[in-house]
Amino acid sequence: MSSNQPNLVAEGFTDTAADYDDAVRFNIGGAQRLIMSIPAGQYDDVIDIGCGTGWTTQALVDRFHPARITGVDPSEGMLEQFQAKLGGIEGVEITLAHGDVEHMPVPDAAFDLGICSMAYHWFPNKWDAAKAMARTLKPGGVLAILCSGRGGDQAYRDVLANTEPVNYTWLGAFDAVQRDIPEMEDYLLQAGLEVEDVWMERRVRYTTVEAYMERMRVVAGHLIGDPSEGEVAEYMARVEAKMHEMSGPRGWTYEFTKLYAIARKPA
Ligand SMILES: C[S@@+](CC[C@H](N)C(=O)[O-])C[C@H]1O[C@@H](n2cnc3c(N)ncnc32)[C@H](O)[C@@H]1O
Repeated sequence: MSSNQPNLVAEGFTDTAADYDDAVRFNIGGAQRLIMSIPAGQYDDVIDIGCGTGWTTQALVDRFHPARITGVDPSEGMLEQFQAKLGGIEGVEITLAHGDVEHMPVPDAAFDLGICSMAYHWFPNKWDAAKAMARTLKPGGVLAILCSGRGGDQAYRDVLANTEPVNYTWLGAFDAVQRDIPEMEDYLLQAGLEVEDVWMERRVRYTTVEAYMERMRVVAGHLIGDPSEGEVAEYMARVEAKMHEMSGPRGWTYEFTKLYAIARKPA
């Protein structure tokens, strides 16, 4: 990926920030399960990397009540939503840090807990990203990651592979983002972390074609392109027509795969 890829991703998320929460309620459930999987403990200083609109931080506040939270994101629009959602919570000091994971404007070894929910799959340099996250942790600090797992959305990928002319960027993006358990273990080990637990969750979902495409728009708008442009609109209409053809009585059926990881910096 080129070096300007994170900016493209950030701009895409800024465009869709206001619609994000409505379209990704399943991500929100996943974020809550990630937070429930963090070992019990006292986490006063927390960093949320790729913090987005703050759903994961909200779940974290509910469980751990940290004193200070730093939200990091390269998307201004997401940081605004994060501030709006979490800025008023009593007893919790919120700091916003504008930047991407490899250039976080935050001190080293300053955090008891790092969380990174549904953002890691967008990081173009996975090993460097893990190292960058590890450097923010205090000795003994915990890192909790949730990201897109290998094998999800195969029905949609099949539609894309058979809609011509083939959109290689969109189709190839699934391989670029999805990861499996051994890959995640390697990122964490190479970053000098102890891996406590890594697991995959696979779910079958039934939805409408329209709702599925809306989810795609808010999480991957930068790959799809501007749907108001003739060529993109025409291509999407053909994709959606195929999806309708393949839909059964329960609607559009797809599998979604999530990868979870909990690691710790050696004390
Ligand atoms: C799908 S949202 C997830 C937001 C939030 N963590 C949640 O659980 O709902 C992905 C977020 O990752 C951010 N992001 C994308 N590329 C990034 C990068 N290179 N470094 C840090 N954050 C990034 C996006 O701007 C976006 O806010």
